[in-house]
Amino acid sequence: MTTILKTATQPSAILPRKIKLDWSQTPLHALKQAPEAGHYINAMHLLVHIEFWFCKLFNKALPEIQDQTLVADMKAFMRQEATHARTHIGAREHLAAGGTEIDSFLKDYEWFFDVVLGDHNLQQYPWLKPLERWWLNQRLSITSGLEHMTLFLAKWVLENHDMLSKAGVDQAVLDLLIWHSMEEIEHRNVAFDVYNQMSGNLASRRFWGVLTLVFMFYWWPRGASHFMHQDPSMVKRRSRITTYLHCARQGTLPNLQSLGAFFLNYMKSDYHPRDEAVTAEILDRWVHILPLASEWTPSKVS
Ligand SMILES: [Fe+2]
Ligand SMILES: [Fe+2]
Repeated sequence: MTTILKTATQPSAILPRKIKLDWSQTPLHALKQAPEAGHYINAMHLLVHIEFWFCKLFNKALPEIQDQTLVADMKAFMRQEATHARTHIGAREHLAAGGTEIDSFLKDYEWFFDVVLGDHNLQQYPWLKPLERWWLNQRLSITSGLEHMTLFLAKWVLENHDMLSKAGVDQAVLDLLIWHSMEEIEHRNVAFDVYNQMSGNLASRRFWGVLTLVFMFYWWPRGASHFMHQDPSMVKRRSRITTYLHCARQGTLPNLQSLGAFFLNYMKSDYHPRDEAVTAEILDRWVHILPLASEWTPSKVS
């Protein structure tokens, strides 16, 4: 992932930031009083390969985008997503150093995105060339759907951070979740706008929107189970729907009703993620509290 970024032609209102986090004191149980939900949070460190996958797709789409403001936003989006992924990998490496086996999960998960949802070398075969653009558009639709799910989680984290604190969340994990959530909200329009400029087909948005919900509820519990399976303190060694529902009732994971309502919004023909939040309010609320590595300058976005 060393060459994913190209020079921006004009500045974006979206600001990539780095955060200083010390993992040395972070335990396996990210939530002291809610270990099952803590494993769901740890599973987020396993799922960040999609952020590199988004970057690869955006680099393919960049030459097709005429709107230079959107081009600048895409480049800022890629910087943010690549930094998110690398920072979560830091947490993941800390857990691996403590004896948690991670590679077998990543092998399957990365295969799914890189091979099943990969390029399939369509450019090698002239008769398949017309499919290349179609397949790129489908994957940009998947990106938009996954960003919608990420936005849901980001809003949930920022609205429920006090529940995580009550459950004894590790400070570095909390800072990571808040920083990541803040930037997900900041760049929430980008994947949706890219898809709209490249295709905008509503049926495809809805089709892949449903499937991204399936992806999320396949890979996220599987990641949590991967941790639970290795945790001798767990009574149940894998996550079931009842495990998730128990955590949601505790308030340490989002409830399914709010997820369902959020998801249905995405199905509406006039949906746009800009209406989901006021970016300046979110940035003003959190950016001064977080241990950011570089100075932040006030954003002019609304
Ligand atoms: Fe991200
Ligand atoms: Fe994102």
